Amino acid sequence: MTSPTVSTPSPKFPTGRAEHSETVDIPSVPENLLCIGDLDGPTIIGLLDLAVKLKANPARFSNALAGMSIALIFEKPSLRTRASLEVGIHRLGGQPVIFDQQDSPIGRRESVHDLGRNLERWFDAVAARVHRHEVLDQLATHCDIPVLNTLSDLHHPCQALADLLTLHERGLVLADSHVAFVGDGNNVCHSLLQAMVAVGGRITVLSPENHGPDPKVISEARSLAARTGAEIIVTSEPTAVAGVDAIYTDSWISMGEAEDPAKVASLARFRVDAALMAIAGPNALFMHCLPAHRGEEVTAEIIDGPTSVVFDQAENRLHAQNAWFVARLAR
Ligand code: CP
Ligand code: NVA
Repeated sequence: MTSPTVSTPSPKFPTGRAEHSETVDIPSVPENLLCIGDLDGPTIIGLLDLAVKLKANPARFSNALAGMSIALIFEKPSLRTRASLEVGIHRLGGQPVIFDQQDSPIGRRESVHDLGRNLERWFDAVAARVHRHEVLDQLATHCDIPVLNTLSDLHHPCQALADLLTLHERGLVLADSHVAFVGDGNNVCHSLLQAMVAVGGRITVLSPENHGPDPKVISEARSLAARTGAEIIVTSEPTAVAGVDAIYTDSWISMGEAEDPAKVASLARFRVDAALMAIAGPNALFMHCLPAHRGEEVTAEIIDGPTSVVFDQAENRLHAQNAWFVARLAR
């Protein structure tokens, strides 16, 4: 597999400071980021390159969003997403404005159409965490400003960008790397799957047959994999993780889902523990989007052990999201 490179002409971003007069390549990104499938491999690599620069030297980008305001809507709880967006936008010189909609889901007080037509009058972009992914599609249709998905029932693209940034920082060439997602085939799984396929890597999903990824997401990913050279393995056989570069898991019950003892019972044999990590091999990283539930999807020994990169993933949410904001909004 070949490593994707940035092939599209890149706008240049002037840093505006005499002591940093060189310019930085900025990838062209589509209007909205609703799922990782909205980005091709070279664009993802371009965003990761930019995120590395943002992380290394944030002062160069401190005016990137000067005079801009970003609406942050939350229909569900958050620690990492809210913190990384608020702090991140502030560091770019922009103004984040939080809308806590946990008690009043979007569309209840007024239509998604009217919400979108209002927001576009004041804001330069909107980032939304929603129960139903269709709400983001509607918002993007009715709102004449960029829409960023900060988690829906189907996708978590900001998380996947942070995850790939974390793998890249560990020296992995994404197109040559193999990541296993273990457990519930949920939103985080879908975005990781789409991201690994876009960059031409290998992704194994190890889950119970009745809790695997959405068949439509798998089918679209397989079509794209035929073009990018990626490999997708969906299995219930733990030996499939042998030799992977990283094992990734997430909670068994996602936000907004009802408690489901039968689901938890069927996922119990997919807990990430020392035995599974031993199959993966001594160099395999452990990844988790957090929040984690020690003793459920992962043992404390593994998430708190030396191969765990979960807090790097959490930090990298900020840098990956800021790369998207710079690429989408900075002039
Ligand atoms: N990983 C993640 O999205 O965390 P929060 O739910 O705390 O935002
Ligand atoms: N799958 C989890 C991810 C949390 C960041 C959820 O949707 O609750």
